[in-house]
Order: sequence, then C-alpha cells, then structure tokens
Amino acid sequence: MNKNKILVPLKNNSYEVRIKQGVINNIGEELNKIGIHKDRKLLIISNKEISKLFGEKVVNNLKKYNFHAEIFNIKAGESYKNLETLSDIYNAAFKVGLDRNSLMIALGGGIVGDVTGFAAATWLRGIEYIQIPTTLLSMVDSSVGGKTAVNHPKGKNLIGAFHQPKAVFIDPETLLTLPPREFKAGMAEVIKYGIIKDKALFEYLENKENRDKILNLENNSLIQIIKNSIQTKACIVSEDEKENGIRAILNYGHSFGHVIENLCGYGEFLHGEAIAIGMKIAGDIASEKKLWLKEDSLKQNKLIESYGLPIQTPKIKKNEVLKILMGDKKVRNGKMRFILPRGIGEVDIFNDIEESQFLKYFD
Ligand code: GLY
Repeated sequence: MNKNKILVPLKNNSYEVRIKQGVINNIGEELNKIGIHKDRKLLIISNKEISKLFGEKVVNNLKKYNFHAEIFNIKAGESYKNLETLSDIYNAAFKVGLDRNSLMIALGGGIVGDVTGFAAATWLRGIEYIQIPTTLLSMVDSSVGGKTAVNHPKGKNLIGAFHQPKAVFIDPETLLTLPPREFKAGMAEVIKYGIIKDKALFEYLENKENRDKILNLENNSLIQIIKNSIQTKACIVSEDEKENGIRAILNYGHSFGHVIENLCGYGEFLHGEAIAIGMKIAGDIASEKKLWLKEDSLKQNKLIESYGLPIQTPKIKKNEVLKILMGDKKVRNGKMRFILPRGIGEVDIFNDIEESQFLKYFD
C-alpha cells in the first residue's frame, strides 16, 4: 500500500484515507480509482469561504471527469451546526435530485464534515459520502471515524449517527490558506494522539527543528503528523467503531474542553484551544492522583504552549461546570467518565473521580 494511504479497517465498509499534496485538484480521478464513476450524482457541501478557495477547482475537475456535481454552501460557524442547516441540505438534495446512488462530498472543516455526514446518514435512509477536510483539526480527527452530528440547544453533537465515509482525501496544501490560529488549534488534537497512544509522535513534536517545520507548514512534516495521527485514530476506531469502550480515549481533554466551549460561548475559544486547556486540567488531576509523574504533566503543558495554545483555565463557576458535565453524553449510568494519562503515550478511562478532584480547577 502507498505509504500515505491509511486503511481504516472495519467489520463492514472499511475505507482509505489518502494524504497527497495536490489531491484536491484531482478528485475526479481519485473517485474513479475507488470505483465511483460519472453516472453517480454528487452534491458538495461546503461554506462560502472554502468554496471560494477550493470549490471551483473541485467542481471543474469533477466536470472534466463528466460527473454531475453541484455545490451547496452552508453558513460557517458552530452556531449553524443545527437542524435548520440540516434541513437546508435536505432541500438542496431534493432540488438536485440526489437518489440512493448519489453521494455527498464534505469540503471544509469539522462543522461541514459533521453536518454533511449526518445529512448523508439520513437522506433516503443513508447514502455514501466522501470527506475532503481542509483544516488540520478535521484532517486528523473529525473526518475519520464516522462520527456525524448536529448540535441541540442543550448540548454539542447530541443528534447524530455513526456513518463512515466512503473515503477521505487530504491535501496538506489546503493548510496554507488556513488562519494560523486555526492551524494551532488543530495541533491540540495532534498533541492529544501523542499523549494517548504515540510517545514517538510526542517526542517528534517536542523537537525544536520539527516544531519550526510544522509551524512553517513544511509539507513533509505536515504529512508526517497527519499520517501518525490518523494511524492512531484508525487503529482505535477499528477496535471500537461505536465507542463502547476504548474509543472514548480519543476524548482526552474533551470533557473539560466541551465545558469551556459551552460556558465561554462557542467562538471565544476554538475547539482545539478548549481541548488544550482540557488536557492541562486532565493532566493536573492525573498528577494529583499520582497516575503519572509531575514531570510528564509539565512536559505536556510545555508542548501545548510551544504550539501557541492556551493552558490557563478561564473563570467559570463550579456549579455551571457540573451542570454541563452531567448533560454530557459521556455520562454513563449517572457517573462521569474521565480520560486521564498514566504516562506519555498511555491513558485510561476512569469512572471514580470525585467532584472535589476536578471542581477545584474552577471558581
Ligand atoms: N473525536 C473523537 C472520536 O472520533 O471518537
């Protein structure tokens, strides 16, 4: 197998993630290669900004391969990841005449990917879809693994389905136009993989020369970190596709991250920034419980900061934190689950954390 193709091996519907510079300019050929030909209608879901950058290129290339492809733009931002946007997509699907043999293509970041995936999971009881992530965060996390969702006023991603994509195409060149703050936010998820399972990746990220290359968007180092991250994700997802157990470790830093996003208002912190702070809190709890060395906790925090990410917990009230955590879908049988590190490259799922052990990090 090509070294930049990663298989996500599943019981049914295994698929490949292909990382290739320039792949966004050649989607028609890539679709043909995986057995998708011109007789299948395509609806590309994106947003205005991404469409302007890449939409025309993708559509022109698809036309060259005689595909019937149209773009539908949704509004950008977490506040539009909702049932109304979903309904707009269904209307577009109806207008274009998407049938059971048609495909949707998500072209954009995590919000576009999650909503498109859920639209594909539900339109005509489920059609195929392709992920073309254009942000670091969606490349290394949300585009792979089949979690699709929209938000409910009471919480993030409460309405969704597991629906695996047919394929994922990643073009690191799309990162060249990503705002630096968003790129850094994506690095939080990359660092997460280092902590939960990949010590070698953690050490790679620590190296100053590598860090400079990554932050300067040097192609090979980007491919390296994207590939390593997806390999870990593919391995975990193939073991536990529907998150009945081990897959929960991918949520390291996310419980507190969601609290921060929710209470500070989406937009104040980007998802990755909130996860960075969440990892810091989880690391501190693990130090207090003597699950890992204080030194490892400091190494983690230093690495997070070195990629320009925050670690300082914002001022939020304890009772508000509890309310959000209780409503989080990670609550099982009334107990809160936390993912805590045992060392760099190893985490575990804990159900026995007392409120006092984590509330002390809040006001
Ligand atoms: N983003 C966590 C997961 O895919 O399970």
